[in-house]
Amino acid sequence: MTNSPTSSPPIHVVILAAGQGTRMRSRLPKVLHRVPGGSMLNCVIRTAESLSPDTLTIVVGHEAEAVRSHLAGMKSVQFALQEPQLGTAHALLQTAPLLAGRPGNLVMLSGDVPLLTAATLRTLVASHCETAAAATVVTAVVERPFGYGRIVRVDGEVARIVEERDASPSERQIREINSGIYAFDMVRLFDALGGIASQNAQGEYYLTDLIAIYRRRKHVVKTVVIDDPGEVRGVNSRTELAEVSRLVRQKKNEELMASGVTLIDPATTYVDPDVEIGADTVIHPGVILEGRTRIGAACEIHAYVRIADSEIGDNVTIKNFSLVTGSQIASGASVGPFAHLRPETVVGESARVGNFVELKKTTLGARSKANHLAYLGDATIGAQVNVGAGTITCNYDGKDKHPTVIEDGAFIGSDSQLIAPVRVGKGAYVAAGSSITQDVPAGALGIARGRQSVIEGWVERKKESSDATATLRKDAGKPAH
Ligand code: UD1
Ligand code: CA
Repeated sequence: MTNSPTSSPPIHVVILAAGQGTRMRSRLPKVLHRVPGGSMLNCVIRTAESLSPDTLTIVVGHEAEAVRSHLAGMKSVQFALQEPQLGTAHALLQTAPLLAGRPGNLVMLSGDVPLLTAATLRTLVASHCETAAAATVVTAVVERPFGYGRIVRVDGEVARIVEERDASPSERQIREINSGIYAFDMVRLFDALGGIASQNAQGEYYLTDLIAIYRRRKHVVKTVVIDDPGEVRGVNSRTELAEVSRLVRQKKNEELMASGVTLIDPATTYVDPDVEIGADTVIHPGVILEGRTRIGAACEIHAYVRIADSEIGDNVTIKNFSLVTGSQIASGASVGPFAHLRPETVVGESARVGNFVELKKTTLGARSKANHLAYLGDATIGAQVNVGAGTITCNYDGKDKHPTVIEDGAFIGSDSQLIAPVRVGKGAYVAAGSSITQDVPAGALGIARGRQSVIEGWVERKKESSDATATLRKDAGKPAH
């Protein structure tokens, strides 16, 4: 006998995702509802993949097309259709054409139990193989077992699982619950699955009935009792979705704090699982960090900032109420308050983006500044450029977008419009209030505004003439003699 990994039996994972999720009251299939990091189904698939299974099958039914298209492009999954949806045993039976007759073990997961960890799955498989059980059930002892199937033990061994609705008052007192996660020996599973009846409160074919059947057949049934019951929380309602999401955030926040990140108020800090943050960065309340965001060390992210899919260097300050998506901000830069960085924006080292400044598909070079009220779109701006208040790149002609180039050291006076395509050369100046329609060469001044005239004594004359008019009006109002 060898113990090399190649000799371990094949593993087939099945994820049940066909149910409607009536209690969600949603048009979206339940398993597509999101927790931080993605849809519940995606979370479960990611965990399943950690086992490197031989096959991964998703049972779809309610809104099957929506679920399939949600997973489009995922080469490693196959689908089994359950139509109509008659319960969890019936769902698993739909995989028989794909899986029955094969050797090995089947690991069954629920699309609505998203927090399960890879470590628990490994423990399940290891324990199942070691005991050579026909079935191994993952269970947990919880404070509030309401809604879950209860584990009924006789002499310490699991005898059957009873659903909430079918349980007697004393069975309802049992606090050990069925997580809905199992490992089965494939041969005995498909042999017994068709024998399950639907005589219960919901008239459904319950997979949980398999345990009593196995008992009668003298098959070995084992349990793996997990320490952290939070991991097997099922989501059946929007309230449970919010609770599970909170658990995901809490775990992430604890990891961040343990790695040296300060969260002023973890309860209002929303960080997706894949976000990375360097040590000594301070995150203020109400901050939302999403997707594949990476933030460096010693940054300060002030209150009510949202950053998605962006890369931020070290020592960056993002001030209150800024929105940053799909952008890069280099070390030492400062952004906000009230800044809007749209996708493909690059803010250079120690550059400054101030209040009410919007950047789209724009590079702002190192140490350049756009401190107040500007729109910079499709622009390539060099280093040490000063962009004055109210500057606008007019990048859109109603049909196409055009680029603006501003070279190193240029100075754009306030309230200028740069009508693209246009280039301002190295070190050039644009006079405030200009509408620039032609390139400004390096070292030149571009000025394009109405010439000012000064009319001396105009106010005094205006006053005199209006006094005269008033006298006339007054005279006109007098009665005639
Ligand atoms: C189920 C278990 C319960 C366990 C709980 C854990 C049964 C009978 N009950 O109850 O013991 O404590 O999970 O969360 O198994 N599904 C289908 N087709 C169907 C019905 C359901 O694919 O016909 C899928 C659902 O989409 C869901 C999963 O199976 O992903 C569980 O179904 P659900 O109706 O949520 O079962 P629970 O009542 O939570
Ligand atoms: Ca459920």
